[in-house]
Amino acid sequence: MSKPTMPSDSPKHLPNSNNDATLLAHEARGTIMPNTGLGTINPPIYRASTLTFDSLDTLARTYPALRAQGRSGYGRSGSDSVWAFEDMLGKLDHADGAVCLESGLAAATITLTAFVNTGDHILMTDSVYGPVRTFCDEYLARFGVETSYYDPLIGPQELAAIIRPNTKLLYMEAPGSLTFEVQDVVALAKVAREAGVVSAIDNTWATPLFFKPLDHGVDVSVQAGTKYIVGHSDAMLGVVAAKGDTLLALRKQAYLIGHRIAPDEAALALRGLRTMDVRLRHHHQAGLDMASWFEQRPEVAAVLHPGLPSHPQHEIFNQLFEGCSGLFSVLLQPGTSREQVAAFVETLTLFSMGYSWGGFESLVVPQYPEQSRSATPWPPSLELSGPMLRFHIGLEALEDLKADLECAFKALAEAS
Ligand SMILES: Cc1ncc(COP(=O)(O)O)c(C=O)c1O
Repeated sequence: MSKPTMPSDSPKHLPNSNNDATLLAHEARGTIMPNTGLGTINPPIYRASTLTFDSLDTLARTYPALRAQGRSGYGRSGSDSVWAFEDMLGKLDHADGAVCLESGLAAATITLTAFVNTGDHILMTDSVYGPVRTFCDEYLARFGVETSYYDPLIGPQELAAIIRPNTKLLYMEAPGSLTFEVQDVVALAKVAREAGVVSAIDNTWATPLFFKPLDHGVDVSVQAGTKYIVGHSDAMLGVVAAKGDTLLALRKQAYLIGHRIAPDEAALALRGLRTMDVRLRHHHQAGLDMASWFEQRPEVAAVLHPGLPSHPQHEIFNQLFEGCSGLFSVLLQPGTSREQVAAFVETLTLFSMGYSWGGFESLVVPQYPEQSRSATPWPPSLELSGPMLRFHIGLEALEDLKADLECAFKALAEAS
């Protein structure tokens, strides 16, 4: 059978807009066989371990070129369907490129390992996602890399004072995904750059739609794509985006360790990314609406949501971020018992209990930040000493969510 023709010219859909919504719809389109009746909107899924070459010449030419980009002519470094997706993520982050990994934790650990050697030192925010702390304390420590935890609200001068000659990496997370402190990212990244320290930030909460770390002086943008990029709670993904040599170092580290996402996961994540702009706009509105609603409840001592005027870093948040996602924490009144918390969460029907967020569904989960702090105590005051519930507001109708919560608060009162 004769092969279908494969026109070599560019695909029709080339993005020519700086608008992220257009980029999400038009980048990473299928480029194979346009105008043959076999062209696809999304790239086909290539499952491959072995990639073949037709001649010794092609092999000799192609292999070094791929290696120079941290890629290779072997399936472990990916294939077209993953690379198109990575290029799109790089553009979204205003980076030179991105590397996709199997989980958000892998994105964090690649960042942590790419820039340190035995004897080096990492400065880590005390509000960091728990398993990243465990990786530093239980894995990096075995290889002679020391991690110090700093107050997420540290100022630039205080940061400059704790940078050591062997400090190689400053790791931030803004806002923290349990306690929602907003770090002074621009000032801290500037101090790090002046000291020759690589800076990285976990930007999962805002996504590059609402905050582009590289535009604000940060070297590495880290995301658990499992959350808003995938958006449908059915796949796991990590992303790191960076420029120049920093990007090459990350790619090389991922390849050396053997990380690679399956093309099927890339396809699911790409599907999620297509609608991320629309979904995040909804999460923004719905999250703020629900956070304000909780603030009016007598059972609630405080709502930790940086988009609320009551948040201590609301001003700096407004300067840096262009929107909010749907995750925030609620502190119940001090003295609320374990039984009352159980009655509350078990009465809810539209909020599932689960340790994740970023999907289309609403979630609730009790959190215990006091167990994972070493630099700054939690709670910061007696008024905030009640049980903490973390909520993710999904895409359901707000009136239904509020009705569900009303019933749960009733059950909480009855359990006292
Ligand atoms: C802020 C943050 N960063 C990173 C991760 C890790 O992502 P993953 O679960 O994909 O490993 C999570 C997961 O919950 C998270 O909340």
